[in-house]
Amino acid sequence: MDQPQNDLSLVKIITLGLGALISWLFISWFSAPKGKKFTVKPPAPTSSDWKGPVLNNPSLRSASDPTNIVCYDPATGQHIEDIRSPSPEDVKIIYEEVKAAQVEWAKTTFDQRKAVLTSILDFVIENQEDICRASCRDTGKTMIDASLGEIFTTCAKLRWTIDHGEEALAEDHRSPGLMMIYKTAKVVYQPMGVVSALVSWNYPFHNAFGPVISALMSGNGIIVKCSEYVAWSSAYYQEIIHACLKAHGYDTNLVRFVSGFADVGEAVVRSGVNHVTFIGSPGVGKIVQRNASDLLVPCLLELGGKDCAILLKDTDLDHAMPVLMRGVFQNCGQNCVGIERIIVAQEIYDKVVEEMSARIVRLRQGSVLADGSGVDCGAMTMGNQFEKLEGFVKDAVSKGARLLHGGKRFHHPIHKSGQYFEPTLLVDVTADMDIANEETFAPIMVIMKHTGPEDAVRVANLCPYGLGSSVFSADKALAESICRKLRVGMSNVNDFGVNYLCQSLPFGGVGISGYGRFSGAEGLRGLCTPKAITVDRVPFVKTPIPPIVDYPVKSAFVGYGFLQNVVGMTYGTSPVERANSIVGIIKAFF
Ligand SMILES: *[C@@H]1O[C@H](CO)[C@@H](O)[C@H](O)[C@H]1NC(C)=O
Repeated sequence: MDQPQNDLSLVKIITLGLGALISWLFISWFSAPKGKKFTVKPPAPTSSDWKGPVLNNPSLRSASDPTNIVCYDPATGQHIEDIRSPSPEDVKIIYEEVKAAQVEWAKTTFDQRKAVLTSILDFVIENQEDICRASCRDTGKTMIDASLGEIFTTCAKLRWTIDHGEEALAEDHRSPGLMMIYKTAKVVYQPMGVVSALVSWNYPFHNAFGPVISALMSGNGIIVKCSEYVAWSSAYYQEIIHACLKAHGYDTNLVRFVSGFADVGEAVVRSGVNHVTFIGSPGVGKIVQRNASDLLVPCLLELGGKDCAILLKDTDLDHAMPVLMRGVFQNCGQNCVGIERIIVAQEIYDKVVEEMSARIVRLRQGSVLADGSGVDCGAMTMGNQFEKLEGFVKDAVSKGARLLHGGKRFHHPIHKSGQYFEPTLLVDVTADMDIANEETFAPIMVIMKHTGPEDAVRVANLCPYGLGSSVFSADKALAESICRKLRVGMSNVNDFGVNYLCQSLPFGGVGISGYGRFSGAEGLRGLCTPKAITVDRVPFVKTPIPPIVDYPVKSAFVGYGFLQNVVGMTYGTSPVERANSIVGIIKAFF
């Protein structure tokens, strides 16, 4: 009988709930810091119609001038322009300019910083195509690679930092302990000053913007040392930040990009910066750390990976195959967290090899800007790695691996100066082969075999790298338990690399993949000095120095006996011990 009444109240509840949700959306939109509009004209080579002179055997170095960077399109070999790299003296001046700008920036509120980041987010969404085209031109990647690696990642980082950066950097109250019970104890996160990021070329937009976003939110100025391989696009990307800072009325010196070879990186590390984030290889990471150690500059090193994807025998292959293909061939394998070892259960091994083979044979290579839409795999940004990569393949084959596709440089019929490597499938790989232990940064799928979960963990952990990882299984609990046993910094169940789209999570590795974390609360706090502060919290109560230990002491022995009892009273673990100590203290006073 009372059925209709119930329906009515349900409608009421739903209406109220929806109303509350809509009001909350509006209130949060109204109260969020608003961005400002600004524009930056994209440079001409972002257009598909642009044509540059094709270089024969293109190289970054010019024979006549060691400070000159020859920028060219790796997919076609077209010369874009030459850029002069700064001298160590120039870098010193740049440091001083950033330092001066940071003093003012440190005084800004979180709302002011969020407004700047919101402007950047609006710009990135509106101009994503130009940003991607510049990245394609400079690195040879495809628009899909650029969208996934440059735009999604940067938008995710901006969104998280705007929404949650402030709470990560808010002052943090800690327990003062019994002895200091009358104090407030807290940590305040203060900007370090001028931080630096020496970043890799694989995602020129995201790798530069990521550290800038964290630096700005935490109140720091930043020098970004961009790779010589992407000097041209980096100059355009810096203009975006500068136009944004200008629109908000801030000094553009707060963020400075410098592009150059190793000497420029060294000059940045030694310029006076308070922190170094380095993204690159273990070999160069050691050089950076040695240089930083002369000035005791703290480092965060992200040194690449050899990520495994473990497939248990119950893996849903219809789902896993496309994920693994993207995990290996995204950006032609030039990823920190790309899948470089697929470790497959023996029960499904032949099926996986067969299906992968059928997929890889259909991949098409070329320049997405020149050739249009029929391109799966772009170019290799570095043109001097082919011998090394072919060497890995030869070593593996000589030790018993089977090469089913590719394995060598691809000479493109149209783009004769383009830098391409054939999509490669190498199976029956074992842990003793170089290709199972060294990062290739190339479109090479490596398949290994395991006999069960324990064997999979053993094989995975034989590698000295430990950055990302994936475990595929229909049993999520089992997959997660395997993730916990891997010697890595990051793991994904039934997926690859998505931990990076959860920008709340720390990013970084173990072993020769480096140390320290960017992203998440850990990343933002890592760019701050966690300053410890205590203040008295009870009116009229201050720390007394008891006369018994006040200088000059009446008796060193009596004073010591008193302190011994204070220790027993404060830290004793049994009530009897504490009571005895209190008696001792009272005695000491008489
Ligand atoms: C500092 O960096 C430079 C690279 O520019 C390198 O040649 C040098 O060996 C490094 N210094 C140390 C102490 O490793």
